[in-house]
Amino acid sequence: MELNMCVLPGDGIGPEVTEQTVRLLEVVGQKFHHKLNFDYGLIGGAAYDETGQPLPDDTLDLCHNNDVTLLGAVGGPAWDHLPGDKRPEKGLLDLRQKLQVFANLRPIRYIPAVSKSSPLKSEYLEGVDLLVVRELTGGIYFGEKSKGIDKASDLCAYQRHEIERVIRVAAQMAKQRRGKLCSIDKANVLETSRFWREVSNKIMTNEFPEITLTHCLVDAAAAYLIQSAAQFDVIVTENMFGDILSDEASVLCGSLGLLPSASLGEGGVGLYEPVHGSAPDIAGKNLANPSGTMLSAALALRYSYSLTEEADAIDAAIDTVLQSGCMTKDLSPNDYVSTREFTDAVIQALG
Ligand code: IPM
Ligand code: MG
Repeated sequence: MELNMCVLPGDGIGPEVTEQTVRLLEVVGQKFHHKLNFDYGLIGGAAYDETGQPLPDDTLDLCHNNDVTLLGAVGGPAWDHLPGDKRPEKGLLDLRQKLQVFANLRPIRYIPAVSKSSPLKSEYLEGVDLLVVRELTGGIYFGEKSKGIDKASDLCAYQRHEIERVIRVAAQMAKQRRGKLCSIDKANVLETSRFWREVSNKIMTNEFPEITLTHCLVDAAAAYLIQSAAQFDVIVTENMFGDILSDEASVLCGSLGLLPSASLGEGGVGLYEPVHGSAPDIAGKNLANPSGTMLSAALALRYSYSLTEEADAIDAAIDTVLQSGCMTKDLSPNDYVSTREFTDAVIQALG
């Protein structure tokens, strides 16, 4: 098979983690006899520095001309002074919106080998295997914004079809997993949440009667994610709640550096990126954990190409390496390997 991937390294540790992931993908390609083509583009602060725009048109064209996009990270202190529409983050938000990747999947699983890296006792971690489905192209992130001298506002709005389509993706995922879907909102206060509940109930009753749908308020859900996360199978929620809860949930698996994500649109469009940010403090030092990006590449193989065996091979190789005690600094601050050495080990484990 021929795989055409657009790589957007971005800022901070983005270039290091994408470089190592491409190395791994090349080896996967050889092992399973696929031809991989990579196109490189600019995004975020790196793009702003070259072109004055955080998402140049050329980059968007590259994404449209490839099957999938693999992104590193955006942002950093060098660009914090820029106005909102020039910030690196705006490049990422525009990319998500222009590609219409409305469903962001963030799987979180307890990995026994790294349980020591979590601040939580292992009794709170055992059995954790959940999937956060975050609505990614609507809500308060994309509503009308205004800023005056004494007042600022961000509008949170959702249209029916935006809720319906993300609920359908989440329900399909629940169907392939343990059949449980928990929708998280703030329906005791927000109109958008009450509407979200109404629309999700209707879709689930009419189209997915076999899936158990429950609703949970976001403040309570934040506590349950620490107290009893194993109860969750698939979580579906709006954009900002999903952003916050997925960082919280990452603590359950030891390090934010391990978390991958897949952002899916209609018809197989996919943007794949680690959940972690640009980590400017360790950028360029060969210390970053490339697992989040490698696991995101595995999700690309799984969801955009249906290459299950190849995706499983990457997941298993990373598990093997972690189990052997080979870890980057985020997971093992006193005894660690570099980004490149970790990748060497993953490539070796691939066999
Ligand atoms: C994420 C990040 C982004 C978000 C930032 C970088 C704009 O935190 O992907 O979770 O808020 O969506
Ligand atoms: Mg976030």
